[in-house]
Amino acid sequence: MRVLILGIDGYLGWALALRLIRRGHEVIGIDNFYTRKAVNEVGSDSALPILSMRDRIRAVEEIFGARIEFIEGDVTNYDLVRRVIERYRPDTIVHFAEQRSAPYSMIDVEHAKYTIINNLTSTLNVIYAIREVRRDIHILKMGTLGEYGYPAFKIPEDAFIDAVIQGVRDRIVVPRWAGSWYHWSKVFDSYMLLYANKLWGLTITDFHQGPVYGTRTTDIISEELFTRFDVDDVWGTVINRFCAEAVVNHPLTIYGSGLQKKGFTSLEDTITALAALIENPPEPGEFRTVHHYREIKTLNEMAELVRKAAKQVLGYEPEIEHLPNPRVEPEEDLLYEPEKKVLPKLGIYRLTRVMEDEIVTILKDLKPYADRIRKIEALFKPRVRWR
Ligand SMILES: NC(=O)c1ccc[n+]([C@@H]2O[C@H](COP(=O)([O-])OP(=O)(O)OC[C@H]3O[C@@H](n4cnc5c(N)ncnc54)[C@H](O)[C@@H]3O)[C@@H](O)[C@H]2O)c1
Repeated sequence: MRVLILGIDGYLGWALALRLIRRGHEVIGIDNFYTRKAVNEVGSDSALPILSMRDRIRAVEEIFGARIEFIEGDVTNYDLVRRVIERYRPDTIVHFAEQRSAPYSMIDVEHAKYTIINNLTSTLNVIYAIREVRRDIHILKMGTLGEYGYPAFKIPEDAFIDAVIQGVRDRIVVPRWAGSWYHWSKVFDSYMLLYANKLWGLTITDFHQGPVYGTRTTDIISEELFTRFDVDDVWGTVINRFCAEAVVNHPLTIYGSGLQKKGFTSLEDTITALAALIENPPEPGEFRTVHHYREIKTLNEMAELVRKAAKQVLGYEPEIEHLPNPRVEPEEDLLYEPEKKVLPKLGIYRLTRVMEDEIVTILKDLKPYADRIRKIEALFKPRVRWR
């Protein structure tokens, strides 16, 4: 298949490109290197060193003997998106090209506006370019389980349910309650995608992924192929940040009570699920919602796992520090059970990486870069407050 990855330079984009190349697909990518710049803007950097895109492509050629086509550009530029789709006519477009940090979106009005404008415009451009160029292209859009908030019911995976509205049979949305401007941008994306599907019959997978953690997939077989790995207060997701804290013996910083629950997935299992959804597209004209997470854990449970692994890999147990929660989120023990049906039907249900083992791998990968992490150690404590 021919796959266009928007946001190919990112944590997931690069790891997915490697997987698709190794599975014999053609890969074309677009990126404007926004994440690289924005991570630097808050004084930080990827904890693992990553090559420039030119060197990444060269490394892939040398190691796997395959070529990735890359176009530097901004997905909010409609002409660019349309031109690339016209030229390459991909079977699938994977849309990762969004501002993806919740804290970044909460810094101030400029960052909130950037997040909303970048994310909604990029999605709208993809929708319109497909409508104009070739309507049967499958859009695999990366959303988040954070769109739903924490409702007191099992979140159905068919998140758009049939109902009679406006006098006709139509589809309405399971209530959503996002917890940051970033998460709201994903909610709005989902509504726009559903509307485009209804209007023009576009074929869409709206993929709701929980937080991803990990440094490795089976394709990241050398350090040259590393994908970015962010660990600071603005860009780092929680397990990745705990691991970096452990490597420099900094206390593991839990926001609030630590009873917050989320559904986590290793990088390896995330990439496997994405490849399966690309290779098994929905029916033409179908709108497919997919939930994906592997292990539901509280922050306290994860911090304990990191402590245990640190003892094994690093020879000490870092302390755990509870900080006042900068976010507005429920901190009590809640029901959290998003339904999962689509991926098991595609045979994707086995946990190939258990969190305990994966944390050991992360610590081993980060250990040689302890000096690099020490330079951003001051950025572990949260600087952005929701209230
Ligand atoms: N990492 C996670 O835990 C996670 C979980 C759920 C959903 N997601 C979603 O998956 C997607 C990818 O996440 P990630 O962790 O790889 O993030 P990332 O920031 O590492 O990657 C996103 C890439 O898109 C690029 N980009 C952003 N705006 C662009 C634009 N207008 N034009 C061109 N390129 C642009 C960035 O430069 C970056 O390389 C995001 O949409 C994110 O919201 C991520």
